Amino acid sequence: MTALPLSRLPLDPQPAAAGPLRVALAGCGVVGGGVLPRLLDRPDVTLVSVLVRSPGKDRSPEPPPGLVVTDPAALLAREPDVVVDTLTDASVSLALIRAALSRGIHVVSASKQAVAGDVEGLSALAMATGATLRYSAAVGGGVPMLETVRLARALGPIRLIEAVLNGTVNFLLNRLGAGHPFDAALAEAQAAGFAEADPSADLTGRDAAAKLFLLSRAAFGPGARLPDRVQPLSAAFQPGPAPVRQLAVADCAGGQITLAPVAGDPLFAELADAGNAIRITLADGRTLSRSGLGAGRAPTAESVWADLTDLLTSRVGAGADGAEL
Ligand SMILES: NC(=O)c1ccc[n+]([C@@H]2O[C@H](COP(=O)([O-])OP(=O)(O)OC[C@H]3O[C@@H](n4cnc5c(N)ncnc54)[C@H](OP(=O)(O)O)[C@@H]3O)[C@@H](O)[C@H]2O)c1
Repeated sequence: MTALPLSRLPLDPQPAAAGPLRVALAGCGVVGGGVLPRLLDRPDVTLVSVLVRSPGKDRSPEPPPGLVVTDPAALLAREPDVVVDTLTDASVSLALIRAALSRGIHVVSASKQAVAGDVEGLSALAMATGATLRYSAAVGGGVPMLETVRLARALGPIRLIEAVLNGTVNFLLNRLGAGHPFDAALAEAQAAGFAEADPSADLTGRDAAAKLFLLSRAAFGPGARLPDRVQPLSAAFQPGPAPVRQLAVADCAGGQITLAPVAGDPLFAELADAGNAIRITLADGRTLSRSGLGAGRAPTAESVWADLTDLLTSRVGAGADGAEL
């Protein structure tokens, strides 16, 4: 059967308030494959469809074959209550998120490029249809970055955000600092599952820039912009004796991503492997900080699951505040 294009699918009513939550999983790679077993295990969740690009690929775990589709419209045609987006193609992701929210379907996304691509438009759409958009996993993998910013904001105005937001680059900088060759360190990061096959978004700083933008928006409001300055990491980078981090810094006037020495700052200097960390300084000088694993199957799937569990618990459309939860 030919699937309808997204724009021609009929608009769905609000999801049913009772019965198992119908969940569609878009993407079944590192992150999606980590979420899949939980979706299959929960009695209060029914997995209705799994979207992939190459259905014949070997996967671990394997999705139930009858549920696999290759067209986003076919995914939505299974009438999910929630779409869990773990795609790598940001344009497909963004179109899917828009199509889902416009039908009142809740979305949990791990894709920072998709969400950062139109966070205002997506929030407005969620507000209009009463759907919820959550994207904790898009910023920080397993570290609750957005939640920490929101907690800080509840305590008072935020003056400054400083963060290490890209686990792959942190891993590479640690390995380079220990004298490993760039290509070997990158191959190791890819084998460990936290660097994507195409690492350009990590190395150019685009990944960290999108995350800093989403954090800035949560901290300083909808006027936040993408960072003005983004310094890339290349094979030519020669680390000195002091630890260097890809440091994302933002205040209400703007932000930047630089490769900065962090000796004397243990939160960042001691960040091992694919670690992420954030420090938030409030206007009154108080600070909040968090650190942990920012990438990889288990921590990122955990973060997706936390968003989904909140939806399971509430089973309501969050409307205007959907993107802010
Ligand atoms: N990996 C991490 O540690 C991590 C951490 C935080 C956030 N994220 C974000 O999570 C998302 C997923 O990352 P990942 O590491 O899980 O990537 P991945 O292992 O490459 O998996 C991506 C999945 O998306 C599917 N896909 C991609 N383009 C598609 C298309 N056009 N149509 C249908 N399916 C498509 C792929 O299908 P096939 O399997 O058939 O190729 C695959 O199942 C990304 O947005 C990433 O930035 C990842």
